[in-house]
Amino acid sequence: MIHIAIDGPAGSGKSTIAKKVAEKFNINYLDSGALYRIIGYYIFNENINLEDANGIVNSLGDIDIILSEGKYRLNGKLIDDQIRTYNSGKLASRVAKIPEVRKKVNYILKSISSKESTVIDGRDIGTVVLPKAEVKIYLTASAKERANRRYKELIEKGEKVNFEDVYTEIKKRDEADTNRTIAPLKPAEDAKIIDTTGKKIEEVLSEIYTIVESELKNG
Ligand code: DC
Repeated sequence: MIHIAIDGPAGSGKSTIAKKVAEKFNINYLDSGALYRIIGYYIFNENINLEDANGIVNSLGDIDIILSEGKYRLNGKLIDDQIRTYNSGKLASRVAKIPEVRKKVNYILKSISSKESTVIDGRDIGTVVLPKAEVKIYLTASAKERANRRYKELIEKGEKVNFEDVYTEIKKRDEADTNRTIAPLKPAEDAKIIDTTGKKIEEVLSEIYTIVESELKNG
């Protein structure tokens, strides 16, 4: 079995890269951000106050998340586009500050990855979720470049956003994700840090493939 942790801030290219790495080595891919997004989506739709941590914690038992064949289900219903919006990213970052929420997400991630080789992307995968992962990558890029990528993605999906708002939001999200006391965004000590500013996806992928291949050969 091999476990690959890919962490980094919003817009660093984590999910695109993680998906390709999983495909290349034919292993399972888990998107931890999607789990925080699903919980944020549920809380928002149930009209639970986002400031009410107790209310959120009390509702966690009603949230059943199932992952199968790369698809996510919330209480039996398929969920995907609804959690890929600009707003759901903000909601995810809010609920992600609550320790019980993180416990629930980590439980799901650990139980799936304990059974098979897995690539997981997120903020705390190399530090908290898979501290023993054989490969740890920390992707980063300048805030401007990350905002630009997110902006293009959202526009392609037909969302009406302006660049300045996306840029401000990325900086706010970095701030919140980096400075929270529990499982903050930071590279694991043994992570390979890759700055993707100005790099093509193919370049980054080839760097990561080399690391994984060497681990598979020598590990
Ligand atoms: O990667 P993403 O944009 O889908 O993540 C959305 C939010 O979820 C992010 O701003 C912070 C939170 N998150 C987290 O706290 N820990 C993770 N491992 C993944 C995401």
